[in-house]
Amino acid sequence: MGTAMFREILSDLEKFLTTATELAAVQRFAVDAIATRLPHYDWVGFYMLDPDDRTMLVLGPFHGAPTEHVRIPVAKGICGAAVALGETIVVDDVAADPRYLSCSIETRSEIVAPIRVRGEIVGEIDIDSHAPAAFGAKDRTFVEECAALVGRFMERSAS
Ligand code: SME
Repeated sequence: MGTAMFREILSDLEKFLTTATELAAVQRFAVDAIATRLPHYDWVGFYMLDPDDRTMLVLGPFHGAPTEHVRIPVAKGICGAAVALGETIVVDDVAADPRYLSCSIETRSEIVAPIRVRGEIVGEIDIDSHAPAAFGAKDRTFVEECAALVGRFMERSAS
C-alpha cells in the first residue's frame, strides 16, 4: 500500500472527472475508489456546507457504516474544525481529541481535508481508520489532492 495506489486512485479520479457532469457522481466515484482500494481507510465521506446555512455541514456520498452525524455545525467536531480553521486536520488518536464526534466505536484516527472553490471552502473529505495514527504525511498529500480535484471539478461546473 502507499504511493503507487495513491497515484492510481488520483489518476482514475482525474480520468473520471474529464467526462463527469454531476458532483454527486464524482463524490460517489471518489469514496468508492478510495475506500475499496485502501482497506485501512474504513470510512470515507463528503461533508458539504449547506448553501442556505454556511454554518452547517451536510453529509454527502460516503462509503462505510452509516453515521448519525448527517448534519454537523461548523462549531462542532473535527469536521467543523477543518472548516473553521481552514486547514487539513489529522487526529492520530480520536479518543484524546475533545472535538471528536464519534461515528463508530472502532474509529481510532481521522483526517479531514477542506475542499475549496476559488479559494473558498465549500466542504471537505472526511476519512476514519480503525488503526491508530493511520494518516501520515503521504496520506495527507493524497487526501488534499483528492479534495483539490473535486474543488477544480466544482469550479469548472460552476463556470
Ligand atoms: N468524527 C467526525 C464526525 C463524522 S463521522 O466520523 C463520520 C467529527 O468529529 O467531526
